[in-house]
Amino acid sequence: PDVLSVTAEIFPLIKTGGLADVAGALPLALAKQGVRVTSLVPGYPAVMAALEGAERIHRFNSLMGGRASLLRARAGALDLLVIDAPHLYDRPGNPYLQPSGKEWADNGVRFAALAKVAAEIGMGLLADYRPDVIQAHDWHAGLTPAYLRYARKDAGRRAPPVVLSIHNLAFQGRFPARLLAKIGLPQEAFAIDGVEYYGDIGYLKAGIQFADQVTTVSPSYAAEITTEEGGMGLGGLLKSRARHLVGILNGIDTEVWNPATDPDIKAQYTAENVELRAINKLAVQSHFGLRPDSEAPLFGILSRLTDQKGVDLLLDALPVLCAEGAQLVVCGQGEARYEAAFAEAARTYPGLVGRFVGYREDLAHLIQAGADAILAPSRFEPCGLTQLCAMRYGAIPVVSRTGGLSDTIIDANSAAIARSAATGVQFAPPTRDMLEDAIRRTCALYRDPIGWRRVQLNAMASDSSWRVSAGEYAAMFRRLLVGRDVVMP
Ligand code: ADP
Ligand code: GLC
Repeated sequence: PDVLSVTAEIFPLIKTGGLADVAGALPLALAKQGVRVTSLVPGYPAVMAALEGAERIHRFNSLMGGRASLLRARAGALDLLVIDAPHLYDRPGNPYLQPSGKEWADNGVRFAALAKVAAEIGMGLLADYRPDVIQAHDWHAGLTPAYLRYARKDAGRRAPPVVLSIHNLAFQGRFPARLLAKIGLPQEAFAIDGVEYYGDIGYLKAGIQFADQVTTVSPSYAAEITTEEGGMGLGGLLKSRARHLVGILNGIDTEVWNPATDPDIKAQYTAENVELRAINKLAVQSHFGLRPDSEAPLFGILSRLTDQKGVDLLLDALPVLCAEGAQLVVCGQGEARYEAAFAEAARTYPGLVGRFVGYREDLAHLIQAGADAILAPSRFEPCGLTQLCAMRYGAIPVVSRTGGLSDTIIDANSAAIARSAATGVQFAPPTRDMLEDAIRRTCALYRDPIGWRRVQLNAMASDSSWRVSAGEYAAMFRRLLVGRDVVMP
């Protein structure tokens, strides 16, 4: 089948988080399953600059009040359809935020346009391309099935099934009701069983309401979001759609994340010569101005600095971490108060705590290759990718037991160690005390070189590739087409 993947981010063109990684890697993994994926993305400057062989294939008279066209292009191995709409997307930097860090005031319109174009392509806008299935990622593409739903009647055509993929329920895309006409939805859509959401328009809500199938990025998160607490206002609706909700674990691109060939690390290695990691550890310590100490357990965290990620718990646990003789490097950006707090911590613990505020792909790779352990003390985590990369790089993940973190890591408790199954350290609930306890356990394990090596090799042997999950997506897409005319007019 042909799948149109609709996404606001795609690696390596534009990325703020794991959504980009997934949107960039899943098409390549699905190709191996006989599923052809074309990705529809907004034409931000970073995207436009990366296109190869772009061809203008459609002009819109007006898209949300401005001139726009659709380009077909490639970027590396990705097949793209790009919305060239300067009035919406020709803005530098982050796809959602102004340079000041505030959201663009017209984000509701910018991403409604993405969904609207997706729906039009689904209804046959292009003479030579019509997807069999549309996969809409997160709230940015959430209106896609709503547009199809209200277009369906007059077009007299059958709309393709839509899969809504939820990467993070915390971002819901909620915009004022007065946008309804502007974004081209009929008044009747503004209803409880339509796009209405607590008096506003809910983009993610609309997606959940109208999608033929809803997916999220781990089985545990799929269960969590149908509860009052985990549902973040959408739990009831998700529960009512439980028969059409499934969790499929994310994988990582094992070519991008491969310690044997990684150009960003100091010493490349495999499980056979994992002791070479020591060279990368020294490189991390020197980059961050830490004491060059091969004996000190080196913790790393690569993360958006937000409440979700539990970085405040880590800040609180720093005295314990340092008292254990361990070190910490932080690579991340996010809320100003956390950025400032880690800067302060680096001053309080010179030589033991180092931080980089910002986004650096190469540093992320070096930390994975040099840190002894990677922390993910998240309060909730739909899937999480850094713990998967950590396992592949032989860094021990130290994670809270929630969402995808509980589905991907096996805690080094005595039973798991005895059976040679442990791949990391898990703690619950996500509190300062339990994180401190996990840090102490990790340091104790570190001082047992044989036990440590066993966990490390188990982690490195775990399959975090897309292979299995791409198979699940492919089977789901095919299931949705059963009984439909796959060959459409
Ligand atoms: P989320 O999508 O919630 O931010 P994930 O763990 O799914 O969390 O994905 C985060 C991705 O972003 C990973 O690929 C991680 O390596 C990367 N990342 C996070 N912070 C940084 C940073 N400061 N510099 C480079 N890469 C980062
Ligand atoms: C979101 C989630 C993260 C997940 C990523 C990719 O940003 O926070 O847990 O791994 O999407 O699905």
